[in-house]
Amino acid sequence: MSANRFNAHSALGVGVGLRAPHLDDLFAAPEKLPLDWFEIIAENFMVDGGRPLQTLEQVRSRYPVIPHGVSTYVGSAQGLDPAHLRRLKALVRRIEAPWVSDHLCWGAVDGHTSHDLLPLPYTSEVARLCAANIRQVQDVLEVPFVIENVSSYAEFRASTMTEWQFVTEVAEQADCGLLLDVNNVYVSSVNHGFDPRTYLAAIPAERVAQLHLAGHARFESFIIDTHDAPVADAVWQLYAETLARLGPTPTLLEWDAQLPTFAELLAEAGKAAKLLAEVTAAAAPGAARAG
Ligand SMILES: [Fe+2]
Repeated sequence: MSANRFNAHSALGVGVGLRAPHLDDLFAAPEKLPLDWFEIIAENFMVDGGRPLQTLEQVRSRYPVIPHGVSTYVGSAQGLDPAHLRRLKALVRRIEAPWVSDHLCWGAVDGHTSHDLLPLPYTSEVARLCAANIRQVQDVLEVPFVIENVSSYAEFRASTMTEWQFVTEVAEQADCGLLLDVNNVYVSSVNHGFDPRTYLAAIPAERVAQLHLAGHARFESFIIDTHDAPVADAVWQLYAETLARLGPTPTLLEWDAQLPTFAELLAEAGKAAKLLAEVTAAAAPGAARAG
């Protein structure tokens, strides 16, 4: 398979995370909102029935829905949880998901889950381990699996490569897609003192299936990836530059704490939609001649 299968849905547009406090506003909206799709936390819907699936079907009748996992833990040295993969596959089939994303991280040991997205040592050995796990996930799911770079606050002395080299090596070995979280790149760049543009320029463009944007909390010498605020100006700038490099790419605004009103969320997503529309217009056939 060629790598460009990961941007087969490049025109999907801008989405937001589906969050319970916004459901009433969503369903009360008289017509289609200025929004293209929703991302769901996969684990919240990996059930056999009941209210979550009814809600999901209601949303799906109006918008595409993409599942985003938080506990596949492809960095686990203990292998993957077969029951988790079975439930994830059932969800993927139920909602006809075009792809599934999760994080390049670890988070569980001996059956105990930390509920954190923990960073990995950036070594060839760990890259091989992650790639083997990702290949197993892809074999089970039968749709493209897309891996997200996490934000981090600590580094391992054992690392022998940069994060962007590691992400690229894993993606190439696993032959998987990438969910490039522009805010996470920025957060880690400040916390670890690298140039975010070096990172973003090194990521293989043909593998990027999706982008994430989010707000963060800035302290004097570090940043915490809080997802509780509007997107920072520096991240908007990096997003615009990333779109210019990649072309139109599905984009998801994450906002998980201190939730704004649904109208405020849509307004923030609208900023991404404006930038995405500019890049889409520039990429359209004949755009250069149109002046
Ligand atoms: Fe993200």
